[in-house]
Amino acid sequence: MTTKTLSPTNEIAAKETLTRRPRRLRRSDGIRALVRETVVRAEDLIYPLFVVPNSRARAPIGSMPGVEQLRVREAVDEAKRAYDLGVRAVLLFGLPEFKDGIGSSSWDPSGPVQQATEAIKRSVPAMTVMADVCLCEYTDHGHCGVIVERNGVKDVDNDQTLPLLMKQAISFAAAGADFVAPSDMMDGRIGAIRRALDERGLSEVGIMAYSAKFASGFYGPFREAAESAPQFGDRRTYQMDPANAREALHEMQLDVEEGADIIMVKPALSYLDIIRQSRDQFPLPIAAYNVSGEYSMVKAAAERGWIDGPRVTQEILTSIKRAGADLIITYHAVEYARTLRE
Ligand code: PBG
Repeated sequence: MTTKTLSPTNEIAAKETLTRRPRRLRRSDGIRALVRETVVRAEDLIYPLFVVPNSRARAPIGSMPGVEQLRVREAVDEAKRAYDLGVRAVLLFGLPEFKDGIGSSSWDPSGPVQQATEAIKRSVPAMTVMADVCLCEYTDHGHCGVIVERNGVKDVDNDQTLPLLMKQAISFAAAGADFVAPSDMMDGRIGAIRRALDERGLSEVGIMAYSAKFASGFYGPFREAAESAPQFGDRRTYQMDPANAREALHEMQLDVEEGADIIMVKPALSYLDIIRQSRDQFPLPIAAYNVSGEYSMVKAAAERGWIDGPRVTQEILTSIKRAGADLIITYHAVEYARTLRE
C-alpha cells in the first residue's frame, strides 16, 4: 500500500479548493442582496418623452409598445407619474407643427419642447428637464444639419449647422430646461453651445453631450416615434462607425474640453466596452442611451412569450450600470421604477 504524500504547498492548495465555496454567498435572497455589487435606482434613469403640438392627437408608437407621442398636457401627466415612482429626469423630443430645410420650428418659443419644458417645470418643479438638441425632427429632409451639395454630392454642412443648434439650445434653455443634450454629432457644437448659453446669462444650464454616438441600426423605432428618418442617404458622415473605440474616446475627450458636463455613449448594449473604457478614463458622469431598438427587441420577444420582459429589462439595465454608466436613458424607466415599488 502506498500513501500519497502531498507537498506542504499542494496540501494548502487542496484544502483551499475545498473551503472556497462561492455558493455560500448565494444561499438566500438576503445574502445575495448583501453582496450585490450593482443596483439600478429609479434616480439613475432618464425617461424620454415625445411631445407633439396640441393640434395633434396622443398616439401610440407601433414599434415601441408602451411609448406614445404625447401632447403637452399629457407629457406633464407622464412626467408626474414618473416622478411619483422616483424617476427624477426626463429627456424631451419635439415633433413640430411644420418642417423646413433648416429646422426653424425648433427655436419657436411656443414649440412643443419649449411648452412642455415650461409646463413640467411649473407642475413638477423638482423634475430635471433635459431637451434633445438636433435638427432631424425639424427638417423636411430628416438630416441632423443643413444640407449642401458639393460636386453633385449632398452632405450635412458642419459649420452652417452650428448657429442653428445654438439657437435651438438657447430657446430650450430659455424655456427652463436644466440641461440641453446635443445629439447631432457636428464637430465643435459643445463649445459653440456652451459659449452661446454663457453669453445669454444661461451659464447654469448644463450640457449632456451625445459624445460617442454611433451610426446604428438600433435607432429604427425612434425614427418612427420622432418622425425623423432621413429622406435620402444615411447618417454615416456624422455619426460614428460602430467599429471604432479609440475614436469614441477621442470624441468624448473633445466634448470634455469643450465644456460638456455629462458625456454619453449611445447605443448602450452593443457598446458596453466603450462605456467601461470611458468610465475608466473620465471623471465626469457617464450616461448611456438604452435606445429604441434595444427596447423594441425586448418588447417584441416578451410579447411572443419568448423571454420574461421585466426580468430581461432588469438584467439589461444592471449590465449597463455595471459596465460603468452613472445614468441610463431608457424607455423602460417608468415600468422599471414601478417594479422597485412592488
Ligand atoms: C436625433 C436622435 C436620435 C436618437 C436620439 N436623438 C436618432 C438618430 O440619430 O437617428 C435615437 C434614440 C433612440 O433610438 O432611442 N438625432
